[in-house]
Amino acid sequence: MNTNQPSLRECPAWAALQDHREAIAPLTLRHLFADDPERGERLSLDAVGLYLNYAKNRITDETVRLLVQLAETSGLRERIDAMFRGERINVSENRSVLHIALRAPRGTSILVDGVNVVDDVHAVLDRMAAFAEHVRDGTWKGHTGQRILNVVNIGIGGSDLGPVMAYEALRFYSDRSMTFRFVSNIDGTDFVEATRDLNPAETLFVVASKTFTTLETMTNAHAARDWLLQGLGGDQAAVARHFVAVSTNAEAVSQFGIDTTNMYGFWDWVGGRYSMDSAIGLSTMLAIGPENFRAMLDGFHAMDEHFRTAPFTQNMPVLMGLLAVWYNNFFGAQTIAVLPYEQYLKRFPAYLQQLTMESNGKHVTLKGAPVGVDTGPVYWGEPGTNGQHSFYQLIHQGTRLIPCDFIAFGQPLNPLGHHHDMLLANVFAQGEALAFGKTPEEVAAEGSPDWLVPHRTFEGNRPSNTLLLERLTPAALGKLVALYEHSVFTQGAIWDIDSFDQWGVELGKVLAKRILPELGHSEPELSHDRSTNALIQRYRQLRGP
Ligand code: F6P
Repeated sequence: MNTNQPSLRECPAWAALQDHREAIAPLTLRHLFADDPERGERLSLDAVGLYLNYAKNRITDETVRLLVQLAETSGLRERIDAMFRGERINVSENRSVLHIALRAPRGTSILVDGVNVVDDVHAVLDRMAAFAEHVRDGTWKGHTGQRILNVVNIGIGGSDLGPVMAYEALRFYSDRSMTFRFVSNIDGTDFVEATRDLNPAETLFVVASKTFTTLETMTNAHAARDWLLQGLGGDQAAVARHFVAVSTNAEAVSQFGIDTTNMYGFWDWVGGRYSMDSAIGLSTMLAIGPENFRAMLDGFHAMDEHFRTAPFTQNMPVLMGLLAVWYNNFFGAQTIAVLPYEQYLKRFPAYLQQLTMESNGKHVTLKGAPVGVDTGPVYWGEPGTNGQHSFYQLIHQGTRLIPCDFIAFGQPLNPLGHHHDMLLANVFAQGEALAFGKTPEEVAAEGSPDWLVPHRTFEGNRPSNTLLLERLTPAALGKLVALYEHSVFTQGAIWDIDSFDQWGVELGKVLAKRILPELGHSEPELSHDRSTNALIQRYRQLRGP
């Protein structure tokens, strides 16, 4: 471990931000807007079809200057360039980080060990597209000759959250004659509920696992094979017509019994949580078709190019990443709420949980020294307006500072009466209420009795970003996801951590393997801590022999 590196706290750019934070502490958003009315328009950015208004943040132009200075001194530019060049910036796993290659246009070039990976990417995309077309037009038949009408994706983590989020987000564009289900949990209920009303003869399983060793996925895949064979009379040949695999591990795929001609590959330089635009997106492509899938990739690419080329002051992912650092490290904010005012994005916060927290939940720097400052904030959220009737109370009047990202679209996909205007009125109102609140004087002037005034007062001064896009299209989704990917990257670069490994999930897996054989027997003697022993003993009684 190298502990000789100066810690982030000792860096002059960090210290300058700390001083600045103290200097602007007395300034509320009411003050900031009164002193500088133009900030409402000036602190905004139009990029690749996304409009970000970040004026309702507790910042001044000087804050942005100092945050950008921190980014520059932290080597963000060099790290971006290194990622795009295919360098092995995932140091603890010695891997390149090239999800950006998954959406690079045909004919471009990104070399890894002398091989142009963009050609490989498009070769897989072409195979996926041919397969997806065959399934969608009914040319690909099940074992009994019936058309495939149901697709069940089996995967977990990045092999589930991206596909299920993208399916829900782009459902409007999906083939409504088909049914899509997603099984992830080792809890048998997940599989049973997902398949209980499906006809095996019409069902295709996509087993999605980068490693093809993940316990949950392999257990569910075996359950799926049993279910299929039981439903189709036990003929093993049925597996080839009803199972396809998405993986980097051809050997394990073939051991499972899936013909590798029905396998769609990707590469070790695609992290699980960055893989929804790789072959892991096969279920998405089956749902929305290859053309829409490619439009989504184009959206990703547009944001990649913006991130790669725009100066930091005009760079949307960089600014959002820096604002996250600002609140996380200089205001002690522990969470960021992501609040899409778009029902189709209902799984977007869940998707972001893995993207952000598996990436930046790290405690040591690239060189293994303690980071010394707080890293990854907790990302969470729900679609509006539902959240307003649930947890927004705490954001408005609680004691914690929770920066919010509001996401909204100008045009509804399902116009219905005045619903969309009402939806948008709400998102704008929330940002306004959080920022400016309601003073005791304003409350009293409305006629509230004195004793009620404190209860009805809104402090305000609560920050938010608002992202406004034209319409939720496949390309817009790609841009949004890439925006958050690169914001996460920016944060990780400031903290000098490895945003692309996930060693933290290993210990629990190892312990579960050790505990599993202990559950069914009264032997061997348990040697865990006494709390764990007590739980296992109680479970042994509950489960019965
Ligand atoms: O939870 C750890 C993890 O490795 C994630 O990073 C990954 O997305 C998930 O498990 C699934 O892994 P795989 O695609 O290899 O089954």
